[in-house]
Amino acid sequence: MLLVVSHPLVQHKLSLMRDVTTGVKEFRELAAEVSMLLAYEAMRDLDVTPTRLQTPLQEGEFPMLSGKKLALVAILRAGLIMTDAIVNLVPAAKVGHIGMYRDPGTLQPVAYYNKLPADIAERRVFLTDPMLATGGSASAAIAALKVAGAQSIRLMSILAAPEGIAVIERDHPDVEIVVAAVDERLNDHGYIVPGLGDAGDRIYGTK
Ligand code: URA
Repeated sequence: MLLVVSHPLVQHKLSLMRDVTTGVKEFRELAAEVSMLLAYEAMRDLDVTPTRLQTPLQEGEFPMLSGKKLALVAILRAGLIMTDAIVNLVPAAKVGHIGMYRDPGTLQPVAYYNKLPADIAERRVFLTDPMLATGGSASAAIAALKVAGAQSIRLMSILAAPEGIAVIERDHPDVEIVVAAVDERLNDHGYIVPGLGDAGDRIYGTK
């Protein structure tokens, strides 16, 4: 299932991220803000339990998060900006990392790092990758999460290409995808068009 978060705040911030004149500092801040707004939607069905507490005026039962604990997992390196922001909303979440890079020749994902919470099977997993382009890295990362025992996985990306969405829907129909926008297509180099360029380079000021 695909959820496109078409909220005006998200769309405005995403347009600023697309702008080639937006510098590193602002790009990072926008990526963090968009990530938190996406998380707000991606986590809309977290369990809450009425919990008894005392306000300054009256005792009562009020909803508090309950149910499965959470894990945020970043696909390195660009996914870090998303988990670093989202963990502010859910500070008890554990954070895992999966290192993937795309071979520039074959465009195939190459895994080089995997460090996940030991109890990932008991957690709801939110996997972050700002650019869902070919879908190769995200699909391989989801497969790695499943091998580690993860049973509930949601993929969060800032931008997606139709090709990437199709790959995840084909390989992992159980995984919901949450994005800010779906762009037109991939170009011959595997970049999303119109896109925002290389997210990692724009976040970290490389290149
Ligand atoms: N990764 C990026 O950072 N940008 C793209 O457009 C595609 C993949």
